[in-house]
Amino acid sequence: MHYTAYPDRLEIISYTIDTYSCDLKEHIREGLTAPQKYISSKYFYDAYGSTLFEKICKLPEYYLTRTELSILKESAPEIMEEFQKGDIIELGSGANWKIKILLNATDEANLSDIRYMPVDVSESALIDASEELLEVYPDLKVTGIVADFTKHLEKLPTLDNRFFTFLGSTIGNLTEKEGIHFMKNISSLMEKNDRFLLGFDMLKAKEMIERAYNDTQGVTSEFNKNSLNVVNRELNADFNPDHFDHIAFLNAEKEQIEMHLKANRDVSVEIRDLDLTIEMEKGETIHTEVSRKFTQKSIETLAEGASLKINRWFTDPRKWFSLVEFIPK
Ligand code: SAH
Ligand code: TRP
Repeated sequence: MHYTAYPDRLEIISYTIDTYSCDLKEHIREGLTAPQKYISSKYFYDAYGSTLFEKICKLPEYYLTRTELSILKESAPEIMEEFQKGDIIELGSGANWKIKILLNATDEANLSDIRYMPVDVSESALIDASEELLEVYPDLKVTGIVADFTKHLEKLPTLDNRFFTFLGSTIGNLTEKEGIHFMKNISSLMEKNDRFLLGFDMLKAKEMIERAYNDTQGVTSEFNKNSLNVVNRELNADFNPDHFDHIAFLNAEKEQIEMHLKANRDVSVEIRDLDLTIEMEKGETIHTEVSRKFTQKSIETLAEGASLKINRWFTDPRKWFSLVEFIPK
């Protein structure tokens, strides 16, 4: 149990406590012995990774967060108009900037009938963000769920009237196949009056997109390399992050940013807890993340495949980012 200043209003439930280290072992072994090596991006987000991510959101090149926040501010009263009671379930919640905008647009009298349920693999981010919210909203109740949103959604202890949100274009960090599977899964959980609000980064000029993932201060590079620190710490490995370069480029055909860590010399890494030695030649890469970029058509296809209906569509004047509300068909 965690110390909390708000025992009556904050509950934290963890679904990953027994499985995290076992999952990590299996995933890392599989990923680092594959022909194209990879590390799943959920391992970016330890406490340090979550802090770095917040820094990324404020970078001048990183237009996504600013743009999504501007759309949210503009549309929040309309989005929240029909929501007087029930659960707001935020998947991959991270910091609490976005939920605050939605709560601020809610009639204060309704706040005691609303429960906020952030779902995130990063326990530290979840607890920090929740405690700060409870301080700001004295009537709000929070049930934080430490879980993997690709695995544990059936278990959510939710009651009636659910409003799911999945912001920050995190849907884009799932591959196309994972994204379809994820949408179908959510769709199967949604009841007649439930809603689902998703943030999508839209496809745009290559230079602008690539700049967002190659910032001049090197924060994205440090974030990318943090996955090696996580493997070092959790599995007793000896990756030297300096022996890798961050690379991120747009794969135009697949409409996605691809991020890798590229060995800048021949490297040999020992992962003691796996009894595994990894040899990499200079130039070889570890694939760490995709960030898919969307079009109206690809969003419509996603809805169609999951038997969801697009109810409302909010965007910014330059159409850089979209907030799309889905409801069951
Ligand atoms: N929603 C926030 C944060 C986006 S970053 C925003 O819009 O700014 C993505 C968040 O998802 C991180 O907080 C990370 O810890 C979490 N995350 C990544 N993979 C996850 C997974 N498989 N299951 C649950 N949370 C995950
Ligand atoms: N979903 C956001 C995006 O695709 C945030 C994000 C996830 C991100 N992983 C990242 C940003 C890695 C930079 C680097 O942009």
